[in-house]
Amino acid sequence: MNNYRKKILITGGAGFIGSHVVRLFVEKYPKYQIYNLDALTYAGNLENLKDLEERPNYNFIKGDINDEKFIINIFSRHEFDGVIHLAAESHVDRSITDPLAFVRTNVLGTMNLLNAFKNTWDNDYEDKLFYHISTDEVYGSLGESGLFTETTSYDPNSPYSASKASSDHFVRAYGETYGLPYVISNCSNNYGPNQFPEKLIPLFINNILNNKPLPVYGDGNYTRDWLYVLDHARAIDLIYHKGKNKETYNIGGFNEWKNIDLVKLLCEQMDEKINREKESSEKLITYVKDRPGHDLRYAIDASKIKIELGWEPSVTFEEGLSKTIDWYLSNEDWLMNVTSGDYQKYYLKQYS
Ligand code: NAD
Ligand code: DAU
Repeated sequence: MNNYRKKILITGGAGFIGSHVVRLFVEKYPKYQIYNLDALTYAGNLENLKDLEERPNYNFIKGDINDEKFIINIFSRHEFDGVIHLAAESHVDRSITDPLAFVRTNVLGTMNLLNAFKNTWDNDYEDKLFYHISTDEVYGSLGESGLFTETTSYDPNSPYSASKASSDHFVRAYGETYGLPYVISNCSNNYGPNQFPEKLIPLFINNILNNKPLPVYGDGNYTRDWLYVLDHARAIDLIYHKGKNKETYNIGGFNEWKNIDLVKLLCEQMDEKINREKESSEKLITYVKDRPGHDLRYAIDASKIKIELGWEPSVTFEEGLSKTIDWYLSNEDWLMNVTSGDYQKYYLKQYS
């Protein structure tokens, strides 16, 4: 164990983005011990990391960040040098039906981690770092023009974004008040392999495969800035190692799409890949009741991370979308497993 140079706790590592971050760190840094702490909620899936199970520098801990005693216990046992905190309730629609669950995990869970980290190092923070993974949704909604920068005021509109904004504030407050070293990054919409099919792209891929309606909220003219998940993982690696204490970095794809245009591109690629007649998937598009408080547009100005750390997206949207579809087509068992059971109840409640 003494050969290992750092012990890093990654929370939420069995989820979508977390699983890519865990894989990148385990493979790229054999001298680090990586601890993946995850409660395995409906969104967590150890299948995402099956190939890493035998790696000597990978450890899985099943546990809930809301359990204060448990968190204190694992910090005193392992004395993590760094925390990369991704565990969260992450779906806006679920936050509208159950906001308290978002306060518990996203706010109180983050507090438990901050307190445990602070108490472990007791002001002796050399080479230590708490990295909070956050979202562009904390900035609220843009109109037709403009971009979110790191100095845009917080203006969250959904219970999800309010809970993430709150946890960002607590991380900063611990930096100012207790000198806890931290970085925060706020990223735009991710897509790619392992994403749970409650989010737009995998939900629509699954529905096309099953010939089910594609429920577009409102008029479909909402805009998001899409980033391939592996590019986000690369940015997290860079920020963890090269980011400056107390700084925030925005991460985005320079890649804005209106939902309806994205869905049409997805339909076109799906028709081609599964040998359906042209335009047959598009016929499944169904406009449905809008999401309450639906933010019109998100778009990130990612020039700070580009200039200071040399990061930029490496995957074009057409290429990333094509890779994503290919992954779901060759992992239909994964899709079947996660869409059985409770998923059916969620789907009926959300879309009927
Ligand atoms: P996800 O829902 O796919 O995964 C969340 C993971 O956290 C799951 O493995 C789940 O089991 C775990 N988890 C949930 N509650 C927990 C608890 N109480 N204790 C321990 N583990 C718990 O989420 P994601 O899309 O991978 O997002 C990860 C992080 O990135 C979140 O903090 C999210 O706010 C942020 N983010 C996501 C996006 C995006 O587009 N998906 C964009 C920007 C930021
Ligand atoms: O911007 C970053 C955020 O992106 C992350 O912080 C969140 O964790 C992540 O879930 C995502 O939030 P969105 O609400 O933007 O993602 P979602 O995939 O739910 O929706 C994308 C857009 O598609 C949004 O405008 C709502 C719309 N939509 C979504 C679903 C699920 C539909 O029209 N129909 C749908 O069924």
